[in-house]
Amino acid sequence: MSRSDRTAPAGAARAMPGLGLCLACALALAGSGFGGIARAETGVPGSAQADRLEACVAPTPFMRRRHFELIEHQRDETVRQGIRKTDHSLVGCVDCHVRKDSQGGYVPIDAPGEFCAACHQYVGAVLDCFDCHAALPTED
Ligand code: HEC
Ligand code: HEC
Ligand code: HEC
Repeated sequence: MSRSDRTAPAGAARAMPGLGLCLACALALAGSGFGGIARAETGVPGSAQADRLEACVAPTPFMRRRHFELIEHQRDETVRQGIRKTDHSLVGCVDCHVRKDSQGGYVPIDAPGEFCAACHQYVGAVLDCFDCHAALPTED
């Protein structure tokens, strides 16, 4: 593998601004939950921060049945009254529960089979939350 083999694609993208733009689009789509085509990987069991911890932000039986009350109440306060708390933020749920693929990259938390999707597929609930909110951790 020569040095020019590796630099050629970058040079080509710079020479064709249109191509660079499309790559940006593809990355944006991959990050927004339309990644089924671009990203075949799924989360590796045990790769979420939560998998190494004992407890959620509230007792697990409560979280299993009533997690949406926490985040929907939070949403109403934030959006309607401008209050911004951090203890039950959706960003926190994503940061702790998101999994990595075998390459070490994060898999969107609402992708099929991932944490915020698997149970909902089972009960037939459809969420629009990640149309607006990031499904990947924010530190990256
Ligand atoms: C139409 C866009 C939109 C949709 C859909 C949406 N939100 Fe939000 N959400 C916002 C905006 C705007 C804010 C306030 C700005 C902020 O805090 O980032 C917010 C704030 C929040 C917050 C408090 C701040 C944070 O980041 O935690 C939570 C929790 C939240 N939303 C949860 C949800 C949940 C759960 C759903 C799905 C049921 C949802 N949102 C759907 C736009 C949206
Ligand atoms: C700091 C890490 C962390 C954060 C932040 C966090 N969780 Fe958890 N969550 C966990 C852990 C650890 C468990 C498993 C606890 C157990 O095994 O009893 C869990 C369990 C759950 C469960 C039950 C899962 C199951 O299979 O029964 C749900 C639902 C859940 N969390 C939703 C959320 C939501 C929604 C948020 C954001 C409001 C959130 N979590 C924030 C660590 C976290
Ligand atoms: C342990 C299974 C499980 C996990 C994990 C889980 N959910 Fe849920 N979720 C449910 C169930 C069950 C319902 C209730 C569906 C109903 O009653 O209609 C629900 C409902 C919701 C609702 C309300 C939907 C509506 O139409 O009113 C929101 C919002 C929600 N979940 C957000 C999340 C988010 C965000 C995550 C990931 C951080 C998550 N859930 C992870 C099982 C789960």
